[in-house]
Amino acid sequence: LKAKMTLEKDFMISEIDNRIYGSFIEHLGRAVYGGIYEPGHPEADENGFRQDVSKLITDLQVPIVRYPGGNFVSGYNWEDGVGPKENRPRKLDLAWRVTETNQFGTNEFVDWARSVNTEVMMAVNLGTRGIDEARNLLEYCNHPGGTYWSDLRKQHGWAQPHAIKTWCLGNEMDGPWQIGHKTADEYGRLALETAKVMKWVDPTIELVSCGSSNTGMPTFPQYEAASLEHTYEAVDYVSLHQYYGNRNNDTASYLAYSLDLDHFIKTIKSVCDYIKAKKRSKKTINLSFDEWNVWFHSNEADKKIEPWSIAPPQLEDVYNFEDALLVGSMLITLIKHSDRVKIACLAQLVNVIAPIMTESGGGSWKQTIYYPYLHASVYGRGIALQPVISSPKYDSRQFTDVPYLDSVAVYNPDSEEVTVFALNRSLEEAMTLECDIRSYPGFGVIEHIVLENDDLKAVNTFGKEAVKPHNNGHSAAIDGLLQASLPKHSWHVIRLG
Ligand code: AHR
Repeated sequence: LKAKMTLEKDFMISEIDNRIYGSFIEHLGRAVYGGIYEPGHPEADENGFRQDVSKLITDLQVPIVRYPGGNFVSGYNWEDGVGPKENRPRKLDLAWRVTETNQFGTNEFVDWARSVNTEVMMAVNLGTRGIDEARNLLEYCNHPGGTYWSDLRKQHGWAQPHAIKTWCLGNEMDGPWQIGHKTADEYGRLALETAKVMKWVDPTIELVSCGSSNTGMPTFPQYEAASLEHTYEAVDYVSLHQYYGNRNNDTASYLAYSLDLDHFIKTIKSVCDYIKAKKRSKKTINLSFDEWNVWFHSNEADKKIEPWSIAPPQLEDVYNFEDALLVGSMLITLIKHSDRVKIACLAQLVNVIAPIMTESGGGSWKQTIYYPYLHASVYGRGIALQPVISSPKYDSRQFTDVPYLDSVAVYNPDSEEVTVFALNRSLEEAMTLECDIRSYPGFGVIEHIVLENDDLKAVNTFGKEAVKPHNNGHSAAIDGLLQASLPKHSWHVIRLG
């Protein structure tokens, strides 16, 4: 196979908002308890934050983490999670049919986020609650002092405001599984009135309006259109969620799911711009892709979880090599849409459909998907370049005209480096990539990182990393032409400078 690409420094998609490399921690399974927080664990600090897990997270340079849900937030009373721990109530979490101990809450999360150098993206409950709870929580978090809620924060031990800038107006309100599920008009009205009041409390915040839970929802994309009719002028982003799975063991189709992701993003951009035109608005709504990943491996195991247990192993997908390839391709797609996608959250971060796994009381390790996420987050900062790509294509059971090569490039003005991210989707053949880089005179290959494995189903377990990158990729840049070898089904990060 042979593919060609041209990079031209003036063909820019957009400056990338670093928040597209965000993630998500929900009160779900062992994400919090036994994941980021485990008092008594040998690696826990004085706050109970597991330092082995924090190290894996800081290496990822995660810029923002969404919290506390997810489906959980739609039944959550945030007041249960603040104040002296001995007074915090145990409650039934109806979203995940478990018992929530509330030993970890808003203030602990803010402290934890600071400790791993990330921003907080806070969600409010628009399922069982509404305007009043949202404005109180915001006053508690962001108001400096002198009022009931801000003084309560101080009394709880946090003198300085948390200064949380990004807020989600509920979660997946289109889904019948959601506590307090709403029609688009019901949600739109409530979200608008909540947004209005929240911006009165703190005009510096940014707000995310819910969209569809996935493209398969019967109300997609009318839910976005109808709810934005209400919220358009009051919010800054609309939310997108999407998970994929290789349920039929059809890897050729599976690796092409990023085409569906691309279609999803284009559709929602159009919906937003249609409402903009309808409203004769000057404002453009951006996209917050605040849940995306592979999720299917754990579906059967989850049916066997004992109801009302505490922090059971829920949604613990064990990711394989082909999952890492799809995650890489999804990251390429998000970068390609960085002109409109300003926030994105890999869902989730620890144990629950996550790049990082732990044993409660034991060790921690990197799942296969950790690596493409690490590469994009660390090397994908700067300006997304619009590559001109010519690639042979294939048809699969679910998709036609799938380019074997999936690629994008990012120019980092600080380091003066260009990084090419590339995936060879072919399951049989290696590819030669020829890339015209004459626009970057004198640039050569700094490093060529490769994630490859003969076994598409290879997984990582504690102490045994079967899937990990090496930096012995074959590539050379001579006289403005980069030539790289991309073995069959492999992920590449080619750093030029
Ligand atoms: O991330 C797991 C769940 O997926 C979230 O709680 C929900 O928002 C989505 O359906």
